[in-house]
Amino acid sequence: MNYSIHRYKRIASTNETALMLAEDGEPEGTVVIAESQSAGRGRLGKTWVSPDTGLYLSVILRPKIPVTYFWQMAYLVSVAAAESIHEMSGIDARIKWPNDILIDGNKVSGILLETFNGSDKQPWAIIAGVGINVNANEFPPEIAHSATSIAIAADKKFSVDNMESCFLSSLYKWYTRYTDDGFENVLNRWYQLNCSIGTEITVNTPDGIITGKAIRIDENGNMVIENKDGFIAVAVPEQIL
Ligand code: BTN
Repeated sequence: MNYSIHRYKRIASTNETALMLAEDGEPEGTVVIAESQSAGRGRLGKTWVSPDTGLYLSVILRPKIPVTYFWQMAYLVSVAAAESIHEMSGIDARIKWPNDILIDGNKVSGILLETFNGSDKQPWAIIAGVGINVNANEFPPEIAHSATSIAIAADKKFSVDNMESCFLSSLYKWYTRYTDDGFENVLNRWYQLNCSIGTEITVNTPDGIITGKAIRIDENGNMVIENKDGFIAVAVPEQIL
């Protein structure tokens, strides 16, 4: 994968722009970076607050895998994000399933994967969007209790450019490992970096809200959970509360 970077001062959403570029046939490794976003997209239709103190980027990936394995990219990108935050700042960053990155239990980074489903002219692509709160020192009231930045955790500011190059190197490393050797190494590293396995999680399944202990990731990328009566259920990422 060779990176080709498109930089913007301010756009609506790097994911939105990267999706359009994927549709136009831009190759794997195309990266869209914005200093700030006016309509940053979060998971589950939420907004990602994107002032100019953070890193906002989206990478076009076109791995040669069947659509049924797309979910593996979510684990790969989370590993790259958590590792790169640690490498850049020395601060311990953990992955909360499915793909939030936390420092001391508060969210420092979010990941949004979207797909371009392909057309007659273009093959499908995955857009991996990553937002990292690098130097923010305050957040809107709705997220103030649960959000943090690397600067808050370290009590000093960092270079957003440095964060960008650390993340892109880490993504390159894990993507190359994945394409060379498969998913197992990625998943092993995910287990080392995650903070969800063994803890209670609450998920909204079609059968109602279930709270249980996160046990493991199954072969479809979903979370196996066990409630106090030993009842086992499988949760998909969209169901996490
Ligand atoms: C989440 O809800 O946790 C996911 C947030 C993802 C935010 C990033 S910022 C860069 C990219 N562009 C977007 O519009 N969203 C993602």
